[in-house]
Amino acid sequence: MATVVRERNDPRQYDDLADEWWDPSGAFCALHWLAAARGALVPPAARPGAVLVDVGCGGGLTAPHVAGKGYHHVGLDIGAQAARIARDHGVVAVQADAHRLPLATGAADVVVAGEILEHVDDLDTVVAEIGRVLRPGGVLVIDTLADTRVCKLLMVTIAERARVAPPGIHDPALFVDPRRLVRLCARSGIALEVHGLRPALGQGIAWLAGRRVDVAMRPTRFTNIVYQGVGVKAGG
Ligand SMILES: C[S@@+](CC[C@H](N)C(=O)[O-])C[C@H]1O[C@@H](n2cnc3c(N)ncnc32)[C@H](O)[C@@H]1O
Repeated sequence: MATVVRERNDPRQYDDLADEWWDPSGAFCALHWLAAARGALVPPAARPGAVLVDVGCGGGLTAPHVAGKGYHHVGLDIGAQAARIARDHGVVAVQADAHRLPLATGAADVVVAGEILEHVDDLDTVVAEIGRVLRPGGVLVIDTLADTRVCKLLMVTIAERARVAPPGIHDPALFVDPRRLVRLCARSGIALEVHGLRPALGQGIAWLAGRRVDVAMRPTRFTNIVYQGVGVKAGG
């Protein structure tokens, strides 16, 4: 069967790789590790009927890490296959573009945006949309890739050559400066605090040696590769 060649960062690559979403040893293995770190930052729901909006939900990998916290988990993803697979994992998932979220203003008690911001064409618009749908007092949890040389070297050049990341999945020009992200969130009244993430050293070595599939992500003060942001929207 002929392999379809896509442009760098073409989101249809995720549909091409749809069978990989839930394979912990597959192309998206690191997303499993990041989903666990993301879920750990989501607080229990503060009220009955609370809604967690998962922007760029992919195959729904965040679902097991927020299950039992009391949210209706709503997922939005530009990929039809991603939304379908997320639905199979308990997410109320809809195909939608993060630049135009099909949700009412203030609909979300929590927004999570995991590893999507480094894929979008217009970061300002997407962050403004996230800020719009988050209710006052709501919590935002983000993780993304930093706009630095070392991140581009590790996550694109080396990761793609080592087949740790699918070739062409990232456009390094879209990686996100954490200071810019903090400024954009502030425009929506969200005081975002950022910290870096790194793999747990021993587990990372064991993974490289093929001796384990899961690796815990640990916080670090260095935000120059993968980083998380957490913030509360003012006015709650
Ligand atoms: C790296 S994956 C992350 C998926 C999921 N958040 C996770 O961590 O497992 C990026 C996801 O963002 C989606 N995506 C990219 N651009 C998008 C856009 N403009 N609107 C909505 N989803 C988008 C892709 O289809 C893909 O599922």
